[in-house]
Amino acid sequence: MNFTNLRGILTYVPEFREKIFVIAIDGAVVAHENFANLALDLAVLRSLNVRVIVVHGIGLQVRELAQERSIPLSSSDGTGPTDTATLKVCQAASCQVAQQILATFSSADLRAALPNALVVHPFGIVGGVNHLLTGRIERVDTAFLHDLLDRGILPVISPIGSDREGNLFRVNSDAVAVAVAEAVGAVKLIYLSAEIDYAKEADLARQLSVSEAEAFLQRHAATSSALLLSKLSHSIAACRGGVPRIHLLDIRIDDALLSELFSQVGVGTMVYSEGYESIRKAQKKDVRSILQLIAQSVDAAELLPRTRQSILARLNDYYVLEIDRAVVGCVALHRFPESSQAEVACLSVARVYENQGLGRKLVQFAQSVAREEGIRQLFALSARTYNFFTQKAGFREGTPDDLPAARRLLYEQSGRRSKVLLKQLF
Ligand SMILES: CC(C)(COP(=O)(O)OP(=O)(O)OC[C@H]1O[C@@H](n2cnc3c(N)ncnc32)[C@H](O)[C@@H]1OP(=O)(O)O)[C@@H](O)C(=O)NCCC(=O)NCCS
Repeated sequence: MNFTNLRGILTYVPEFREKIFVIAIDGAVVAHENFANLALDLAVLRSLNVRVIVVHGIGLQVRELAQERSIPLSSSDGTGPTDTATLKVCQAASCQVAQQILATFSSADLRAALPNALVVHPFGIVGGVNHLLTGRIERVDTAFLHDLLDRGILPVISPIGSDREGNLFRVNSDAVAVAVAEAVGAVKLIYLSAEIDYAKEADLARQLSVSEAEAFLQRHAATSSALLLSKLSHSIAACRGGVPRIHLLDIRIDDALLSELFSQVGVGTMVYSEGYESIRKAQKKDVRSILQLIAQSVDAAELLPRTRQSILARLNDYYVLEIDRAVVGCVALHRFPESSQAEVACLSVARVYENQGLGRKLVQFAQSVAREEGIRQLFALSARTYNFFTQKAGFREGTPDDLPAARRLLYEQSGRRSKVLLKQLF
């Protein structure tokens, strides 16, 4: 780790301190060689005073045990009916996984416990199908979980729960994670799996609002894997239930958890409640991020270089787009009141966030600001990206004569011969 990374991590510390993260790990994650590293990463989170609750799955182990014992499963993931033989396999798998987790946590110096914090009732008869020993969560004993967290003990929750009379039920672990995250007021729910290749999912953006996740589900219900569909539909449920951010990660990527949490780019897929992505006026503290965004485009001769001083001198003109507190895009609106025009300038989106509609959102935002101020016409100057303005943002090509006099002088002095792009607002 270098100092820049460390500084990056430290900026998140005040935000994460004392917050609850629910980490949902599939059974296949516990069986993966990177699981020991994950335990160390959880120890890092604990040392930063993040309150961690782990919910584990058992899918892989249930399938393996059933095969070993030649037992036909009525449902391997707790979404269909669970018969008595299947429940027995689930219990054995759950013990095996939980013991493995506790042992690995011990090796990372993490104190953990298996609380009986779920009250589970029968799932019942749905659509004419009796779900037998499949359960649904009736209540989460949040006081118990908080008590453990207060004592520095990491609760590990299994996908087997009981009712008040001691009857056992199998519950789907993705659903357990949602119920627990909602009940304890978690700020993040993180699903870790070892069997979903998110990077290979065509059309799956790195960040999705709840409505975008819903649209993805509709488009891909027939083609995506059941595992991915389960993660996404439970992410949507968690968002709707008040958990602001859900991260979907692949344990096979080294350092996936810390990279996702402590870097602006991230390595997974995130589903977020609407309102989490925002465009706001730039502040002094954003100048560094703006300069970084511009630098990537200056190298490609797409934007003119700017200095810290030149941005600070016109800071009121700049707007930044944030995702999860990280500045990932910027735009400036330079006003020319004498001709009721404004220039859309310095438009830039971080490379990893391109093609997700953010560029258009920034132009749209600048346009709304201009409209509110009664500005008659927008213009932009672009030597390489003019097609974006004409094809995606509704601009048309003009001539240097269309520019305000002061801007035209600078244009001529620069010698760049950029195209002049215009958009009439009134
Ligand atoms: C131009 C830029 C702001 C677009 O940001 P973005 O977030 O990727 O844009 P969006 O996601 O809203 O739009 C992407 C669409 O624009 C298209 N697009 C991007 N650059 C384009 C270009 N130069 N010409 C034509 N179309 C372009 C993409 O192909 C995509 O099309 P699709 O929706 O049909 O798939 C971004 O690529 C960038 O920062 N470029 C470098 C800086 C720059 O050139 N700034 C403008 C100079 S004033």
